[in-house]
This record gives sequence, C-alpha cells and structure tokens, in this order.
Amino acid sequence: MIIFKKTILALTGLFICVFLVAHLGANFLLLLPHETARTYYNAYSLALRSNVFITVIAYINYACIVFHVLYALLITMKNRSARKSSYEINKANENSSWTSQNMLLLGFLILGFIVIHMANFWYKVKILHIEEDLYQMVFDLFHEPLYVLIYVTAAIPIGLHLSHGVQSAFKTLGLYHLKYMKWIAKISVVYAWITGVGFAIIPLVVYFR
Ligand code: HEM
Repeated sequence: MIIFKKTILALTGLFICVFLVAHLGANFLLLLPHETARTYYNAYSLALRSNVFITVIAYINYACIVFHVLYALLITMKNRSARKSSYEINKANENSSWTSQNMLLLGFLILGFIVIHMANFWYKVKILHIEEDLYQMVFDLFHEPLYVLIYVTAAIPIGLHLSHGVQSAFKTLGLYHLKYMKWIAKISVVYAWITGVGFAIIPLVVYFR
C-alpha cells in the first residue's frame, strides 16, 4: 500500500513539474520590453481561457496538487507511526540531507504561497471574471514591495523541494537505474535551480523596470 501511495505522490509531483516548466516559460514573457510583454502576455492569457485542452490540463493540475498534498500527509503519518513503534535508532540526521527530511515543511510553505498566488490572480480571473489587462495586474502586483518579497522568498522552498522531489520521484518509479543515477540527480538539481531562480527574477525585473 505504501508503494501505491508513493507512486501517486511521484506521478502527481512530476505532472506539477511539467506544469511549472510551461508556467515559467509563459511568465518569461514578462521579461520582454513593457508594451511587447503586454501584447504577448495578454494573448497567452486569452489562449489559456479559450482553449478546451488547456482547461482540461488545468483541472488535472488542480487534482494533482490536491492528491500530492493528501498523499504526502498520509505517507508522513504512516512513517511517523511506524517509527514510534520501532526499536530501531533513527539515524536520519546522519543519512540524509536537511531538504529530504523537511519535504513536508517545504511543501506546506509552497502551499501557503499557492494560496496567496491564487488569490492574487486565479481568483480574480477565474472566479470574479475580471477581464482586465492581466499584464497590468501582474505589473501592479510586482510594484508592491511586500509581494515582490513574498514571490522571491517563495522561490527558495520551491527550489529546495524540487531538487529532492524530482530525483525521489524517479527513484519511486524505478527509473533510478545505477547507470543513470548521477545524471538524474544532476538534472533534478539543475531543473530546481532554473525553476527557483526563474520564478525569483521575474518579480525583481518587473519591480525594477
Ligand atoms: C513570477 C511568478 C509567477 C507569476 C507572474 C504567475 C502568474 C500567474 C497568473 C497570471 C495566473 C493566472 C492565469 C489565468 O488564470 O489566466 C497563474 C496561475 C497559476 N499559477 Fe502562477 N505565477 C507565478 C509563479 C507560480 C509558481 C511559483 C507556482 C507554483 C508553485 C504557480 C502556480 C500557479 C497555478 C497552480 C496556477 C493556476 C493555473 C490554472 O488555473 O491553470 N505560479 N499564475
């Protein structure tokens, strides 16, 4: 049963990773010169809302986020109760990194960020149907120092969580062959850095523009 739970955690996590690549790519449009960015970013936003395929992907992504959180909690609870009833000495500190031991904490920090982030954009666009200039919405938000700080700081738990999470997902899915181990670990860390630094520089560039 634990294998099933870990497989769900790995698959939902990897799906979210693919979403993040697309999301970061789209948000890199914000780095273009002001008016060019407005044109392309608003065209992307319109495409998001009018495409049925993208709408289906968005719903799968929401489900992945919910199941990822749920299964992370279930696995952690199971591990804790197993550890309590075991006589084995826990050598976690000696055997693993700070990141791998604090994935749940990092996950909750990211979840907190996602709630704020959804209130910033998703709620206004999808629920209130504010058909405003989305570029302007992002531009205005990233001219508030508090939000710049929140978005830049959130990139730290995101980067750390991904750097361990991606390689861990490959291990769970049995794709962590000895031959490719080093490569998968390297790709995970590079992916995590690009995603973390990428999401952190966007608010900074917009703020100082
Ligand atoms: C520079 C940073 C970011 C910017 C400017 C940004 C911008 C946006 C915008 C404008 C939307 C609403 C799009 C729409 O509904 O039309 C959105 C949705 C979303 N963002 Fe971000 N985002 C950023 C970072 C992140 C990060 C780091 C995460 C995850 C950790 C994230 C997760 C999401 C999710 C899950 C949605 C909902 C997607 C959907 O409804 O299909 N975003 N973002």
